[in-house]
Amino acid sequence: MSVQTLPAQESVEFSPALVSFIEEWKDKPGNLIMVLHRLQEEFGYLPRAAVIKMSQMIDVPLAKIYGVITFYHFFKLNRPGKFNIQVCLGTACYLKGGQDIIQELENLLGIGVNQVTDDGLFSVEAVRCVGCCGLAPVAVVGGEVFGKVDPEKLPEILAKFKGV
Ligand code: FES
Repeated sequence: MSVQTLPAQESVEFSPALVSFIEEWKDKPGNLIMVLHRLQEEFGYLPRAAVIKMSQMIDVPLAKIYGVITFYHFFKLNRPGKFNIQVCLGTACYLKGGQDIIQELENLLGIGVNQVTDDGLFSVEAVRCVGCCGLAPVAVVGGEVFGKVDPEKLPEILAKFKGV
């Protein structure tokens, strides 16, 4: 007699702080968005195994959770690069050439928005106003804000993060 087994589920560990956050929010209205934000804060993106585990903990079907994740651009399904490059495309930055930064990053790194370089070092993300419009156009690299970014200076900026 053969015994059919389910494929092994990739296991994932939640920190005690995350577990207690989920416990606290589990039965509250609007909990799904809150918990997803917290989950992404923990991992930097939303790994499938973590979403499955969370779905079981809050007793919400996986299909409903992925409906929410894919609706909001904020949620990331793929692991970002070691240094995530957020290019602001809010109105001020867009008017001052935010799109040129994205184009030049594509030339330099060979990746477009929401992609990661093969070495896992950089990822590119387009974001809305990051709150320093006076410095437009703005890019945030690995959490560091760069203002009045001239696309020609991008190699210099990227070099700062290579070999870190
Ligand atoms: S529009 Fe880019 S910082 Fe405000």
